[in-house]
Amino acid sequence: MTTTPTGYLHGYRAEERERLHRQAGFLAPTVHDGLPFQRRTKLIEVGCGVGAQTEILLRRWPELHVTGVEINDEQLAEARRFLASIPSASGRVALTKGDATNLAIDAESFDSAFLCGVLEHVGDPARVLAEVRRVLVPGSPIVCSEVLNATFFVDPYSKDTLRYWTSLNEQQLAMGGDPFVGAKLGNLLAGAGFRDVVTEVKSFHLDNRDPVARAEFLAYWTDLLLSSAPALLDAKKVDERVVDGMRVELARVANDPNSVFFYAFIQARARA
Ligand SMILES: C[S@@+](CC[C@H](N)C(=O)[O-])C[C@H]1O[C@@H](n2cnc3c(N)ncnc32)[C@H](O)[C@@H]1O
Repeated sequence: MTTTPTGYLHGYRAEERERLHRQAGFLAPTVHDGLPFQRRTKLIEVGCGVGAQTEILLRRWPELHVTGVEINDEQLAEARRFLASIPSASGRVALTKGDATNLAIDAESFDSAFLCGVLEHVGDPARVLAEVRRVLVPGSPIVCSEVLNATFFVDPYSKDTLRYWTSLNEQQLAMGGDPFVGAKLGNLLAGAGFRDVVTEVKSFHLDNRDPVARAEFLAYWTDLLLSSAPALLDAKKVDERVVDGMRVELARVANDPNSVFFYAFIQARARA
């Protein structure tokens, strides 16, 4: 049985594919820190997008072969193009079109799994995790990194940005996704039968202690917020005035010598 894919809030434009490459590199120190993939050789990456995380996994774990599963043809084409340009990926990566809720893969085919920012975009994350558990050899590690959008804070107070943020979250819910799925990873993994479930709050608390990191993160964040503007404008969840207001506010935050930014996502680890 196949299910209808949930709408993808960020869309599939070329700029979004480029943004995913930048995002993976920018977040790599936090997302890829100390992952439990020692002595693993066959990893499944569900929702591999443009292959940006795949490249980092292959670089960090020289013994790993990665199978990336992705539902969208354009993302898959970019992942193929990108990974073909990385000599060390040669012979170590298989990219396949597929729906994470219904993997056309035999049981117990992999010894590790990596998911990043995909459960937020699916209507039935429990089913995805059940599928991933099915294709893992018992005892294999899984790592899921997912958003928890309730954690966003910015100072100075930025009215249009917060309005936009609420609209973005509501639109993601309306499209069948879940911008708060990070908080539910413990329940979801345990419910899917995974053992030794551990969740870690990975936070970015940026202020005067490190103005350079704060400025870099704000630039990344502005990019991320604006990536969903076309979808939100189309859906009439926001108007141009709110988008423009947000641009002005985020520029003001970036130039304010006392600004504060906070956001957290959740990284969960478990064993099949
Ligand atoms: C935010 S992107 C993240 C991509 C990649 N994991 C990364 O961190 O760069 C989410 C990806 O999941 C894919 N996706 C969404 N629903 C899916 C499904 N049911 N099965 C497979 N992939 C899916 C989307 O097409 C998109 O490429």
